[in-house]
Amino acid sequence: MTISRRRLVAGAAVLGTATALPASGPAWARPQSPGPGAAGTGRPGKPGKPRKPGKPRKKAPSPATSATEPFTVPLTVPRPLRPLRLAGHDFHRLTTGEADVELLPGATTRIRAYNGLMSPLIKARRGRPVLIRQVNRLDVPFAMHLHGGHIPQRYDGHPMHQAEPGDVRYYHYPNEQRAATLWLHDHSHGTGHGHHHSDSAESIYRGLAATYLLTDDFEDALPLPRGRYDVPLQIRDARFGDDGTLLYDPQGFLDRPTFLVNGSPRPYFEVAARKYRLRLMNTSNDRFFLLRLRDGTPMTQIASDGGLLPAPAQAWAVPLWPGERIDVVVDFSDRPVGSQVVLESLASFPGETPDVMRFDVVREARDPSSVPGELRPAPDLGTPVLEREFRMRFDPETGRHLINERVFDMNRVDFRSRLGETEAWTVVNDDVEMNIPHSMHPHLSHFRILDRNGRPPGPAEAGLKDTVTVAPGETVRFAVRFTDYTGLFMYHCHMMNHVAMGMMGQMETVR
Ligand code: C2O
Ligand code: CU
Ligand code: CU
Repeated sequence: MTISRRRLVAGAAVLGTATALPASGPAWARPQSPGPGAAGTGRPGKPGKPRKPGKPRKKAPSPATSATEPFTVPLTVPRPLRPLRLAGHDFHRLTTGEADVELLPGATTRIRAYNGLMSPLIKARRGRPVLIRQVNRLDVPFAMHLHGGHIPQRYDGHPMHQAEPGDVRYYHYPNEQRAATLWLHDHSHGTGHGHHHSDSAESIYRGLAATYLLTDDFEDALPLPRGRYDVPLQIRDARFGDDGTLLYDPQGFLDRPTFLVNGSPRPYFEVAARKYRLRLMNTSNDRFFLLRLRDGTPMTQIASDGGLLPAPAQAWAVPLWPGERIDVVVDFSDRPVGSQVVLESLASFPGETPDVMRFDVVREARDPSSVPGELRPAPDLGTPVLEREFRMRFDPETGRHLINERVFDMNRVDFRSRLGETEAWTVVNDDVEMNIPHSMHPHLSHFRILDRNGRPPGPAEAGLKDTVTVAPGETVRFAVRFTDYTGLFMYHCHMMNHVAMGMMGQMETVR
């Protein structure tokens, strides 16, 4: 199946990105607009602004400058962490702490890391539980959340289970769910007590995002690219100081001009002339990417948040919002050795370099892989017996982001859900005037989109999802059925800046 360019643009319009041309960026995110997250979010001194005459020139290009110079460093492809095999479990030790790493050539950057690493990789297998012993050596609390994981509440990273500095906690992930690209990120929530104040937006920004790649027999039976031809790509934005310091300003998320892929600034990646499976993950706090290969090479989308799609979908550009994952297969086989293909984001801001990374075709290779016309049927989640509505809006009066007119309160249960009962959630984005996108991410279970503005989802949204973005004025409905585990679970917008400003709720699943 192919999608025409016109339809693609129409699809982008649905996501509020109709104006997403290389030089303009989506309207909602233009620095001069009253952007998401309160007045005055735009920062002075936009990158790329021509220097005023008479201003002294800088001497040498700083690491921060070279960070925006694309394709000077190789992509880091993480090797999976080696578990101990213990009584049918994979046992990992994860220490969270500060680490000094070289992200920009010639500079040292202090990050918050798992085991000293930026973007590490854990590989897991369906039916084989993972046990993690986590030691928190940070000076802020940490709550480990497996995004997309179907797991008991006590391992879900609820803020009430935060590991305080020095604490040791155990996490047990059953891995009784479909193969999918999941990720492991901080979910602590500020309590406002002095130095103990922490929030997940900052910790994720500073590096606490690991890839958790779950495989299973069903997927292995398909002839998809695998092994070294199956590559996780955590894509995010960042802002660096001249000395390589990672700068964090919660209100400054429109000025994060450096793109990192697995921690490498706009890297190049040497590939063989064959098919690759690229697991695209947006681990940014707030940035939207509209990814495409600059030379027009189509990408075949094969999976979304919850794993394989029912059928592959062709795309020239892939919209990827914070928290989302999209797996694509890209075929370099008709590229001569020596050629280069740039992955760029069509949603970059004015003055930004749109380049994300470059694929350098350096050798021939045999390619037994293929993409079957049918992948994996989506499970039947049943007929909804209950409707819930979630209205998302920013309140300019208070500077808070609200779900149904409320900000998050850990001591309030917003509603109860019965395990096994199918619900229909309607998510409405009321921020037409402010032009702010929002998303919805419930913990515990994946969902299926029923319709977007009354129209059934296209092939790229036909599989299981766990995070869905709703453009200003849009309405998305999805069916969800929570199963297996009772307790308190969060649901929230995945623009981390919005979460920090209240856009989260708490449900209790009951029998
Ligand atoms: Cu990735 Cu509650 O989040
Ligand atoms: Cu999650
Ligand atoms: Cu939001």
